[in-house]
Amino acid sequence: MSVAIQAPVAKTSNHLALPRAVVSAEMQLTAKQKRLIRKSFLKIEPALNLVGTLFYLKLFRLDPTLRARFEGPAEMQGRKFAAAMKLTAISLNHEDGLAPTLKLLGVRHRQLGIKARHYRTMARALIWTLEQSLEKSFTRETKHAWTALLGQLTRIMAA
Ligand code: HEM
Repeated sequence: MSVAIQAPVAKTSNHLALPRAVVSAEMQLTAKQKRLIRKSFLKIEPALNLVGTLFYLKLFRLDPTLRARFEGPAEMQGRKFAAAMKLTAISLNHEDGLAPTLKLLGVRHRQLGIKARHYRTMARALIWTLEQSLEKSFTRETKHAWTALLGQLTRIMAA
C-alpha cells in the first residue's frame, strides 16, 4: 500500500510530535475489544472486495456527494477499501506507534476534502456493512469495539 503524502508536512509537525501520554489515551482499547475486532476482521478478510462493494453502496447512499471524491473503477476502490481495512487491523497491534502515520494519512484526506462529518458517515456505513456481513457474530460487544476503534482513528486522522 502506498500512502502518497504531498502536504506541507512542516505545518503539522507539532501535531505529529504529540506527547506519548496523549497519543496513548487516544488509542485505548481493551484486550477483549481487540480480540473481537481481529476475529471479525479475519471472518470478512477472504471477501474484502465484496464487503468493500457493499460498503461503498451504503456510503454513497448515506452521502451521494461523496461519490465524486472516489476516482477510478470499482475494482480499484475495492483494493483501496482492503488497504484501509488492513491498516485499521494493523493499527490494533501498533497503537500509539502508528499515530504519526495515521496523522499523515489524515493530512492526505484533508487535501482530498474529507471533513470530520465524512468520518462519521464512513463509520455508519462500515458498521452497517459489518452487521450485514457478519450477521449473528456481529454481537453488541463487537459492534461497540469497532465503534470505539473507528472513533479513535477519526480522532487521530481528523484532528
Ligand atoms: C479509518 C479511517 C480511514 C482510513 C484508515 C483510510 C485509509 C485510506 C487509505 C490507506 C487510502 C489510500 C491513500 C492514498 O492513495 O494516498 C485512502 C484514500 C482515500 N480515502 Fe480514506 N481512509 C479513512 C477514512 C476516509 C473517509 C472518512 C473518507 C470519506 C468519506 C475517505 C475517503 C478517501 C478518498 C476519497 C481516498 C482517495 C481515493 C482515490 O484515490 O480514489 N477515507 N484512505
